[in-house]
Amino acid sequence: MPALPSEIIKLKRDGKELSKNQIKEFIDSYVSGSVADYQMSAFLMAVYFNGMSKRETFSLTEAMLHSGLVIDLSFLNGSKIDKHSTGGVGDKTSLIIGPIVAAAGVFVPMVSGRGLGHTGGTLDKLESIPGFSTQLSVEQFKDQLSRLGVCFIGQTKEICPSDKKMYALRDVTGTVECVPLICASIMSKKLAEGIDGLVLDVKVGSGAFMKTIKEARILAKALSAIAKGAKKKISVLITDMNQPLGKAIGNSLEVEECFDILKNRGPKDLRDLSIELSAQMIFLGGKAKNLGAARNVAEEILISGKALRLFEEVVSAQGGKLPLPRAQSTYAIVSKKNGFISGFQTESVGLASLLLGAGRKKSDDKIDPTAGVILHYKIGDAVKKGNALATLHYNGDKPIKEVEQMLLDSIEIRLQKPKTPRLILEKVGR
Ligand code: URA
Repeated sequence: MPALPSEIIKLKRDGKELSKNQIKEFIDSYVSGSVADYQMSAFLMAVYFNGMSKRETFSLTEAMLHSGLVIDLSFLNGSKIDKHSTGGVGDKTSLIIGPIVAAAGVFVPMVSGRGLGHTGGTLDKLESIPGFSTQLSVEQFKDQLSRLGVCFIGQTKEICPSDKKMYALRDVTGTVECVPLICASIMSKKLAEGIDGLVLDVKVGSGAFMKTIKEARILAKALSAIAKGAKKKISVLITDMNQPLGKAIGNSLEVEECFDILKNRGPKDLRDLSIELSAQMIFLGGKAKNLGAARNVAEEILISGKALRLFEEVVSAQGGKLPLPRAQSTYAIVSKKNGFISGFQTESVGLASLLLGAGRKKSDDKIDPTAGVILHYKIGDAVKKGNALATLHYNGDKPIKEVEQMLLDSIEIRLQKPKTPRLILEKVGR
């Protein structure tokens, strides 16, 4: 006889290992509505405190994967490789990488998520383009992939419906920063895409869910183990999130920055990481004989404008219409001292952008696509008293003074020039 949901919650609360069937039953019942949000919240918190064994994490991933459809992309003649980031502030590489890698002849089926906590989400960024739809049917997804090589969609009722519900709940119940939950959330979506391989960008630092390299390595290894268990090619980079990636934080502002990169402008760190992740995907997809050659392919595609043209085609195919909207008001935050930018409390920068309307406090909050923050400096840059450190973009009545103070507290300025932080910290075996 199936166990009552409350019995499964109690087992996890008491630190017991759940069986594959118990996990499957709990997830299926949540999707069908017989486990309520408050029960799932309790379960998530129990997992947060007690963790999960490798076996449980794999079972949770499988249960979430099979809560919906696993897309069959075997009709596509070529490798299908995706990239996923564990989440950061200003992390917008998917929009750049998708078209670069597709232009290199590797199919990129991207099922992405929304903003989570202080971090942004690919879906919210894309939907800041007026008319852009991420809610395509599986048939439309397949059709666009075969025509353009890349398509961006979100979890739907069909694909990973369990993650769609759990992700929104975790965002507002303090259960995001948890290795088994992150692993199952990411890998269920990725495995549902019908991919052959995956490049993972595990973020570490003050703006990431993993604050230390030790935690990031644990997450990287756990993600690799699931990919290998599912017989997928995998490559994992651990990358720095001790400052926002690029300079734009907030949905349409970030899309604009992606266009800058695709036009051969824009911040170096965002460009460098986009090239490296693209190269990893091109290599995994068998379109270059080694990583060096794959980097050259990615560079050539970016410089030639091929990726820009493909991204524009994707935007139009998914209903998007440019130009991007802009917020009505801006406010410059000015430095109170001379010195060098020596660090960021990056999570606070993400939260400041959220307070302007770029993120959600509750799962059903509407976001303002145009709201956010443009930073004017990166770590190591010299700044003078009176220079604008950041510009806020917002609409209507917002707690500007509070956001200003948060940002002034988050941007560290010292007299001594700091070392430029390394962007790509580690590569975890293939
Ligand atoms: N990205 C996801 O898709 N899920 C998480 O839990 C964290 C980051």
